[in-house]
Amino acid sequence: MNRETGSAPVWVDESRLHEFVEKLGQIGRNSDGGIDRTLYSPAWKRAQDLVSSFMGQAGLEVRQDTVGNVFGRLQGEEDGDCILTGSHIDSVKNGGAYDGALGVVSGIAALEVLGRDYGQPRRTVEVVSLCEEEGSRFNANYYGTRSILRMVTEDEPTRLMDSNGVTLAEAAASVGLDSSRLFEAQRNDLAMFIELHIEQSRILQDTGINVGIVDTISGLAWLQIAVKGRTDHAGATAMTDRCDALQGAARMAIAIDALAATQGPPLVATTGVMEVHPGGVNIVPGLVNFAIDVRHPDTSVLTNVVDGIQSECNRVAADRELEVDVEIVKNTPPHTLDSTLRKALSTSAEACGLSWRSLPSGAGHDSQTMGTRIPTAMIFVPSVDGRSHSPAEYSTPTDCARGASVLATSLHALAW
Ligand code: GLV
Ligand code: MN
Ligand code: MN
Repeated sequence: MNRETGSAPVWVDESRLHEFVEKLGQIGRNSDGGIDRTLYSPAWKRAQDLVSSFMGQAGLEVRQDTVGNVFGRLQGEEDGDCILTGSHIDSVKNGGAYDGALGVVSGIAALEVLGRDYGQPRRTVEVVSLCEEEGSRFNANYYGTRSILRMVTEDEPTRLMDSNGVTLAEAAASVGLDSSRLFEAQRNDLAMFIELHIEQSRILQDTGINVGIVDTISGLAWLQIAVKGRTDHAGATAMTDRCDALQGAARMAIAIDALAATQGPPLVATTGVMEVHPGGVNIVPGLVNFAIDVRHPDTSVLTNVVDGIQSECNRVAADRELEVDVEIVKNTPPHTLDSTLRKALSTSAEACGLSWRSLPSGAGHDSQTMGTRIPTAMIFVPSVDGRSHSPAEYSTPTDCARGASVLATSLHALAW
């Protein structure tokens, strides 16, 4: 017992947690050393099966819902709403072994030690391995969480398709799930959610702090931009006679990058997709479609930057005699996490004798969706060099076990 905080530290065994991370990190591993575990793929199914077996070994009651979220439960002595922890099992294409996965296995390792050392909890606690966060296959971000909260629409399974024309419903059927039972995944018995995740930035590493406690998750806007010019002969059309859509789109991308630099951190703007049409080496490009991801924790800054991007695109288009169309295809507001739960997490970090600091999250998380309905908070574990959405993603076993111990200590204080 820590005399100052009144909380007993609960330590998650580093080698046990590392064993979970290593075993899960073999599932969906590709020849680049990255992870491919998109929603309802064979690797996704193997990962959820492995997570179910980890939960069983940890002494938890295991259940899969109708969209493929997997839950491990420690039934409490008292009736009442359930304390939920966990994160997501899916990955981006060629992603890392820690994004989402660490939060799932940390929750299992935390409940394993808590059940073993402290017996039945007073309040019911569950860990969830959410089916989908990244949106990498169907653009169905937070589908697992949205299903639990009934924030999905009935037509999503048949409307959303992957790049091969397979619908979400067909993919779900391939792993034994019936999407017509989508709404059965709804839960009305959740009291709170705590998600452990890798930081994916380098603030903790650079400041030498053990754990982060997230204050705000950045808001996000995705822009789809179409630049229309004119196709012409690449050999016969003088440089002065062209309306080259790619030259315009490239200047717009550079102007957007400059705008982000002028605004400064934590604003980030990324051109992650650019398609050139018709795409012939001897044809002046007539059309370019490109996509921008912009994020900031303050809605008014985000709105101003989106307006600024639109004016920069219009300026370049006018200058180069092009047409441009800027469409906002996604707009997610920033989310501030629950202050009472954040305090519980910092108290637990102190009980464990670990240093902590508040941090914003530039990345999106299930917590921002969960947090719209129930008190929610996040623990960040340092990411080596801030690398993420890449095979280079890594957090040391010691840092992972420290974060998981803050989680276990918090669950102990809340539920036992
Ligand atoms: C998800 O990881 C995102 O922030 O795009
Ligand atoms: Mn991610
Ligand atoms: Mn994630």
